[in-house]
Amino acid sequence: MISLHLPTLNDGYAVHRLIKSCPPLDVNSAYCNFLQSGHFARTSILAKAGDQCVGFISGYVKPEDANTLFIWQVAVNDSARGKGLASQMLDSLLQRPNLHSVQYLETTITAENKPSWALFTRLARRLEAELNKIDYLDKQTHFQGDHESESLVRIGPFNA
Ligand SMILES: CC(C)(COP(=O)(O)OP(=O)(O)OC[C@H]1O[C@@H](n2cnc3c(N)ncnc32)[C@H](O)[C@@H]1OP(=O)(O)O)[C@@H](O)C(=O)NCCC(=O)NCCS
Repeated sequence: MISLHLPTLNDGYAVHRLIKSCPPLDVNSAYCNFLQSGHFARTSILAKAGDQCVGFISGYVKPEDANTLFIWQVAVNDSARGKGLASQMLDSLLQRPNLHSVQYLETTITAENKPSWALFTRLARRLEAELNKIDYLDKQTHFQGDHESESLVRIGPFNA
């Protein structure tokens, strides 16, 4: 059975290993995942099957826009995919009392990441909110050709 949790500092390394096992996600340092699990716990969410970490969403409220939750990464272990877990984690995150005043969600997605587009398109439908996208990080301009371009997706307003 899968349960959802507020991450703690102790989850940081398991999160690091989960992200490593979830291409095409960029692997950040373990230190980054410790900060997400500690400092950003209230805007992130962890899924466990028993004591195994099978899902993680890292997010933060934009420093200069308290209305907007930015979702950094969504990861679900291969064994737990296709059962609605990522959607459940997003819904649960948005229901947290500390996020009740948030009216927009932003994330970035590469053109070919179909599961991610499906996930956020479905979320916008559940929230009955608009989904808009703009070019954000360009393969050549920002990544010198080393990484696919990322669109910035903005969903909202919701909770209006
Ligand atoms: C993207 C990811 C988090 C989805 O997790 P999940 O728990 O399987 O997602 P859900 O079961 O909640 O499905 C959400 C939607 O995506 C769709 N979806 C899931 N996997 C899919 C796939 N491989 N291809 C196309 N659509 C897919 C589902 O059908 C569902 O849409 P629907 O409700 O219209 O049917 C997971 O595949 C993953 O970790 N991928 C690797 C990392 C990644 O790319 N993360 C996203 C970038 S932030």
